[in-house]
Amino acid sequence: MADSTKTAKLTIDGKDYELPIHSPTAGPEVIDIRKLYAQAGVFTYDPGFTSTASCDSTITYIDGGKGELLHRGYPIDQLAEKSHYLEVCYLLLYGELPSPAQLEDFESRVTNHTMIHEQMMYLFRGYRRDAHPMAIMVGVVGALSAFYHDSTDISDPWQREVASIRMIAKLPTIAAMAYKYSIGQPFVYPRNDLDYASNFLRMCFAVPAADYEVNPILSRAMDRIFTLHADHEQNASTSTVRLASSSGANPFACIAAGIACLWGPAHGGANQACLEMLQEIGTPDRIPEFIARAKDKDDPFRLMGFGHRVYKNFDPRAKVMKQSADEVLDLLGIEDNPTLQVAKELEKAALADPYFTDKKLFPNVDFYSGIILEAMGFPTSMFTPIFALSRTVGWISQWKEMISDPQLKIGRPRQLYHGETLRDYVDIENR
Ligand code: CMC
Repeated sequence: MADSTKTAKLTIDGKDYELPIHSPTAGPEVIDIRKLYAQAGVFTYDPGFTSTASCDSTITYIDGGKGELLHRGYPIDQLAEKSHYLEVCYLLLYGELPSPAQLEDFESRVTNHTMIHEQMMYLFRGYRRDAHPMAIMVGVVGALSAFYHDSTDISDPWQREVASIRMIAKLPTIAAMAYKYSIGQPFVYPRNDLDYASNFLRMCFAVPAADYEVNPILSRAMDRIFTLHADHEQNASTSTVRLASSSGANPFACIAAGIACLWGPAHGGANQACLEMLQEIGTPDRIPEFIARAKDKDDPFRLMGFGHRVYKNFDPRAKVMKQSADEVLDLLGIEDNPTLQVAKELEKAALADPYFTDKKLFPNVDFYSGIILEAMGFPTSMFTPIFALSRTVGWISQWKEMISDPQLKIGRPRQLYHGETLRDYVDIENR
């Protein structure tokens, strides 16, 4: 962290405390309160971390006001248009775009780790067939630490690297297996002559009796979905991975923790919830009813795929996703898709309503992604697993950055305690 010359002054009970201010390369200045408790004996209070920078990072930057998302400085729309997922993985992990030789080497390293230990097949069989694929993924990814002992020592940079490559390579295999298991079909092994996205589509949709011919436009759309979800700064699941890893937990356990956090409907689970909502609305004439429910304070219903903690403008990923939805449905010859029609009308109606514009609620990445995934043939239960496999590289990049940070400390927030103070135990017969 660069030395700062600017300071903020905090006065408590007439006593002044000087707090250093750090100037980032982009974004608001950050007041450093690390010594505040030692010097002034007070904590700060910020539930939901709305004003707290939890780490010093160089990976991803979001300007929520402008609707800008940068990975290592490169805007997401350029990466979605000109790059591809594994190149973005390299960029996130190592900080720069790869040379052709570096990319070839990286792709071959990932490709050579796509299979999972054969013994892991039996883990899947222990789950009920109707288990949510996210439930299976949390368990199986955590279980990788039981199968790959040679990459769990986080103090060894080589082992960290191997664990990273293993997870990027194996997550599509695990997600596809979770899907195959849920529909009672045999697992399809990865094929290393296919690119990352095509291989995933084939593992999901091929069967031993009939191979799956991968359409390059669909594989491009799949790759773009992976790219758009690759990283997103210090969101809930990434912060979960960082907090878990701050204790020294092994990398597979930390990523499993991230997957568990991502599952929630306010986070990665929103893509499933959004498509289900669009299908429940069904026809554009029912939109006003759902908009009214979203605005009603006494109704817990929220417009899924709308709003974001950081974006107070269009989520730049939603723009690319909307365009991709048009392309995919066009390719598949799905004209007048009723869900897409409802989505477009709902977007228009919400953006014309002061409730949403005043609160700066815009469509987020999940608003259109479900429509594409459904058109490709995925059930809604696979939407969040696809988000999880895409985000794995972001979690890993943030985890690697954290492990090599000399400031690394176990994450241990404090609290504002409003409970009882010391009191004596009451015997049960006297209560
Ligand atoms: N529909 C209706 N009202 C909303 C919505 C929504 N989708 N989102 C926020 N609001 C209202 C909320 O009721 C509150 O109103 P008031 O100020 O009157 O109490 C105000 O807007 C601010 O909301 P908040 O809950 O304080 O904002 P937050 O930053 O804590 O929550 C969010 C962000 C994404 C959890 C929330 O917008 C939401 O629940 N959206 C729907 C779920 C969703 O699409 N999640 C995917 C996020 S993008 C993918 C990812 O990163 O995982």
